[in-house]
Amino acid sequence: MRIGIYGGTFDPIHLGHMQAAKAAAKALKLDCLILIPDNIPPHKAVSGTSAAPAHRLEMCRIAADRLCPAVPTLVSDMELRREGASYTKDTVRQLRAQYPEDELWLLMGTDMFLSFHTWREPQTICECVNLAAFQRDSDDRAEEFAAQKRRLEGEFEATCAVIDNGEVIPMSSTQVRSALAEGKGGNCLDESVWGYILRNRLYGTNADLTRLSLEQLRACSYSMVKAKRLPHIRGTEETAAKMALRWGADEESARKAAILHDCTKYFDLAQQLSTCEKYGILLDDMEKSTLPLLHAKSGAGIARCVYGMSEEISEAIRWHTTGRGDMTLLEKILYIADYAEPNRQYPWAEELRALIYTDLDAAVKRGLEITIAHNQQTGHPLHPKTLEAWLWLDQHHRKEG
Ligand SMILES: [Fe+2]
Ligand SMILES: [Fe+2]
Repeated sequence: MRIGIYGGTFDPIHLGHMQAAKAAAKALKLDCLILIPDNIPPHKAVSGTSAAPAHRLEMCRIAADRLCPAVPTLVSDMELRREGASYTKDTVRQLRAQYPEDELWLLMGTDMFLSFHTWREPQTICECVNLAAFQRDSDDRAEEFAAQKRRLEGEFEATCAVIDNGEVIPMSSTQVRSALAEGKGGNCLDESVWGYILRNRLYGTNADLTRLSLEQLRACSYSMVKAKRLPHIRGTEETAAKMALRWGADEESARKAAILHDCTKYFDLAQQLSTCEKYGILLDDMEKSTLPLLHAKSGAGIARCVYGMSEEISEAIRWHTTGRGDMTLLEKILYIADYAEPNRQYPWAEELRALIYTDLDAAVKRGLEITIAHNQQTGHPLHPKTLEAWLWLDQHHRKEG
C-alpha cells in the first residue's frame, strides 16, 4: 500500500489542507492518507486562539470523513498522546514499525521541505519514509526547491517527489482563525468543520446557537452526522421546502425541521437516552430500546433546547419516524419529505414523489403503509403511533369520501 502521512497543527483543518490532501493522493496514487494532528508546544499555544487537542482531533476526523471515499483517510492521535517534545523522527519510526511492508510518503509544504536538513535526525526520517513536497506553479523558489531536492537525495539518500498544488488558494490557519473571530471564515472551511467550530464556540466565534442563519444551522447539523447522510438531509430539506410552498406551510420552518431532523442519527443508545433525559423527552418502553426510533426524540430535544426551535418544528422532528394521530401540517410534510426525497431509490419512491404534491394525506398514508409492510416483513415491532396515524388518516379519508 502507498500511504501518505500528513502532519500539522490543523488549528483548524481548512480547505487548503483538504485540497492538498486530494492533490497528494492523486499525484502519488495513495491508497490511504493518515492525518496526524501535532502537539502544539506550550510556548507556541496562544490561549484563547488555539483549540484544545481534542477539538483539533475531532475536526480532523470530520474532515477525514468528508475526504473519503475520494481519499480514504485515517486520523491518528499518536502525536497528541506523546508526552513531552514531539519530533517527526519518532512519528515516522513508529509508523514504519506499524507498516513494515508499505510505501510511506511524508507530505510537507515548501517551507518545511527547504528547511528539512535542519530537522532532528533527517537521515532517520529518510530511512523510514519518502518525502513529498507541495509546490505551487506560481512558486518563484523553483530553483531553490530543485537544489534542495538534489541536496537531500545526495546527503540522506532521500526519495523526493514534487506535488503540483497549483489550484490551491493560499490560506493559513492563522488567517482562518482571525476571520472566524470576526464572524467570517466559513468559506475557508469544510461546511461541517465550520459547524463544529460554531457548536463548540471555538476561535472566538461565540455563536448564539438559538439565532443561527439557515447556512449556520446546516453547518451545525452536518457536523453532527457522517458525510454519507448529507445528500439525504439536503434532499429532505429541498423536498420539504417545495412541499411547504405547495401546501401553505412556512417554508423556513420546513427547512429548519428538515435540516435538523436526523442530527442525532449517529448517537449510540446511551447518548440517545441521556440526551432525551437531559431535555425532558419522555420515552415509552419500546422507544427506550429501539435505536432507530430514538433519534427523532433526541433530535427534537436538541432542536428545541440547543437550537431554540419552536414547538412546531421540534414536534415535527419528534414524530418524523412514527407519525401520530392528529398530525400538524409541518409534521406531515417532514414525515413524507423524509421518505420521498430524491435520494430514496426504493420501488415506491417515484409513486410517492408524485403524490406529495397532489394529495398530502394520501402520500402520508402511503408512507405509513410502507412502514407497516416493512415491519411485518422484517419482523420488527410496529410502534403504536404508526398505526394510530394510519387509522386517523383512514377515518379522515372515509369522512371526506
Ligand atoms: Fe430520521
Ligand atoms: Fe431522514
